[in-house]
Amino acid sequence: MSHSLCVIAGDGIGPEVLPAAVAVLEKLLPDLRVQEAEAGWDCFVRHGTAVPDSTLACMSACGAGLFGAVSSPSRRVEGYRSAILTLRQRLGLNVNLRPVRSWPAVSPKAGVDLLILRENSEGLYSGREHWESPEVAIAERVISRAASQRLAHCAVEVAQARGARRITLVHKANVLPLTCGLFRDSCREVLEAEGFGAQLDERLVDVAALQLVQSPEAFDLIVTSNLFGDILSDLACHWSGGLGLAPSLNWGSGLALAEPVHGSAPDIVGSGRANPLAAILSAALLLRYQWHEGALATRIEDAAHTFLAHEGHCDFGTETTRVVTQGVLALL
Ligand code: NAI
Ligand code: MG
Repeated sequence: MSHSLCVIAGDGIGPEVLPAAVAVLEKLLPDLRVQEAEAGWDCFVRHGTAVPDSTLACMSACGAGLFGAVSSPSRRVEGYRSAILTLRQRLGLNVNLRPVRSWPAVSPKAGVDLLILRENSEGLYSGREHWESPEVAIAERVISRAASQRLAHCAVEVAQARGARRITLVHKANVLPLTCGLFRDSCREVLEAEGFGAQLDERLVDVAALQLVQSPEAFDLIVTSNLFGDILSDLACHWSGGLGLAPSLNWGSGLALAEPVHGSAPDIVGSGRANPLAAILSAALLLRYQWHEGALATRIEDAAHTFLAHEGHCDFGTETTRVVTQGVLALL
């Protein structure tokens, strides 16, 4: 099988960290064909669209992509919508995998190995916001049976792949009985029908947040809705060593777009301080889940592990991006 990759570097540190992930994939996959595409705020300023049709076409043609980061203004800008949200929705990338594990030297705690599976297309990120009056703004939280079931089917696949001992559904059905109730019941039905009833567990999101701080090693596979998953995955990635070590994979409709969890990091752009490990580890997710090359994914993770164990940190000041990239490549 030949491997095609659509590379969307985006804004800020995206173009600084993505070359590291591409170099790692090129080393492991000699047949890799790379195509570059644009998206993000700079793209919007230049072309009037944050995600050109050519980028969507490139992703569809390649089937797999790497995404760096984009900048989004925190005020409404006419015609602009976050590029990554647009890519997720337009390409049917319905789920988001966010693994969190302990690494030598950089993790504050050993023994953490969990994966947050987040619904990626609806919830409070439905994009439905409007003014009810000049004093009241409304956002609509959309939960559908179909999207919840898709997420649960993906949970089955991930649970099988990692031999999950526990699957925790995270919701807030005591306060949001219709939306969270539908989410919980739809997921439960699928997981029970697929034989995961014994591993199934539930937590309200506020308690889940507390327990992720108190005893992260007790969690295995967490399945939750869009906003809850966004917040809990940033919280949980503290245990792996922070945003510089947090990978993710947008997945669905036969396509996959790997993406470091972090944003465009305007405070360090151009300084050489951006840690490329989140991007490199995202490439490993692409290998494992989209290309079924689990052994190659493990090689990347083992190289990162060995690098961190040997160096004892991944902060090389203004040489960080270069030193970490070369260090991991040398270990592959
Ligand atoms: P951020 O993730 O860009 O940065 C948060 C903090 O973490 C900063 O201090 C940054 O320097 C540090 N950091 C992030 N990645 C790092 C890395 N690889 N190595 C070392 N340090 C790293 O989040 P922030 O500051 O909230 O947002 C900045 C911009 O990014 C905003 O425009 C926001 O909309 C956008 N954003 C985009 C995302 C995406 O493209 N998926 C996700 C999150 C934010
Ligand atoms: Mg986030």
